[in-house]
Amino acid sequence: MVHPRNDEQNRSPVAWITGGGSGIGRSLAHELSDMGWTVVISGRNREKLSRTAEAVDRHTIRQIALDVTDAQSVNDVIGEIEREYGSVDYAFLNAGDYSPMRLSDFDPELFRRLNNVNYLGVVNCIAALIPGMRQRAQGQILITASLSGYCGLPGAAPYSATKAALINLAESLQPELLQLGIRIRLINPGFVATDLTDKNDFKMPFLITPTMAAKAIKDQLMSKRFEIRFPTIFSWIMRLLSWMPYRVYFALTRRLLK
Ligand SMILES: NC(=O)c1ccc[n+]([C@@H]2O[C@H](COP(=O)([O-])OP(=O)(O)OC[C@H]3O[C@@H](n4cnc5c(N)ncnc54)[C@H](OP(=O)(O)O)[C@@H]3O)[C@@H](O)[C@H]2O)c1
Repeated sequence: MVHPRNDEQNRSPVAWITGGGSGIGRSLAHELSDMGWTVVISGRNREKLSRTAEAVDRHTIRQIALDVTDAQSVNDVIGEIEREYGSVDYAFLNAGDYSPMRLSDFDPELFRRLNNVNYLGVVNCIAALIPGMRQRAQGQILITASLSGYCGLPGAAPYSATKAALINLAESLQPELLQLGIRIRLINPGFVATDLTDKNDFKMPFLITPTMAAKAIKDQLMSKRFEIRFPTIFSWIMRLLSWMPYRVYFALTRRLLK
């Protein structure tokens, strides 16, 4: 596997994963650690971070507690990683929050909460990463959005709007960042069985495990593609849905209300 090398130190890649204490981030930390990478995980809950790190024998996973909604702390954490472990080669901006919401429970506070974590949390991380990556003209920023960001679906407006915003954000920044030598990419998963989706009371189609999700990310990590999406069939169904004329699209999505 080819990966960026820091010629001066000839070290293994350094990956930073926000939301690394559980779910997809946790499994991804284990996959990257198995490849010999230095992995730094962040999240608010120190116990969850410790459980992720302790599950690996070689102790190559480091933990730094962080709330991504706190811009100053995000800056401090990037500084700490660079001082202690080396510059970040791969930043997986994966921290996220979710709550379903029906129209009968319309709640502006939920929109604000999810926007602060899912969207502005990623903005805070990008702002903190750019100066160092720009100086080195190297680095990848991988944003975990979602297939639900392709198009609006009933019951998930506060969440999927943040994921649509992330997709748009990455598309907007890609050309300029590439000129600086920085690759920004999207990771768009379908349904993955984690604490996040435990809140769903419907049968989730094409549901996969966090380990399967992490392997899909690892397998596509070295490709030149802007978007890593999985599982394949579900991702195509969601793509086709987003391309449909609204008359057909709403006829289909109205059925989800039943
Ligand atoms: N599961 C799915 O079906 C699915 C599908 C598409 C996309 N995704 C996305 O995948 C990402 C990972 O989710 P997951 O499914 O693995 O769920 P998860 O296990 O609940 O992971 C979410 C992680 O985000 C962290 N987090 C939440 N708020 C944070 C904050 N303010 N600051 C820092 N960390 C924070 C949580 O840790 P703390 O509580 O310790 O902070 C947690 O470890 C999310 O962005 C999610 O939207 C998930």
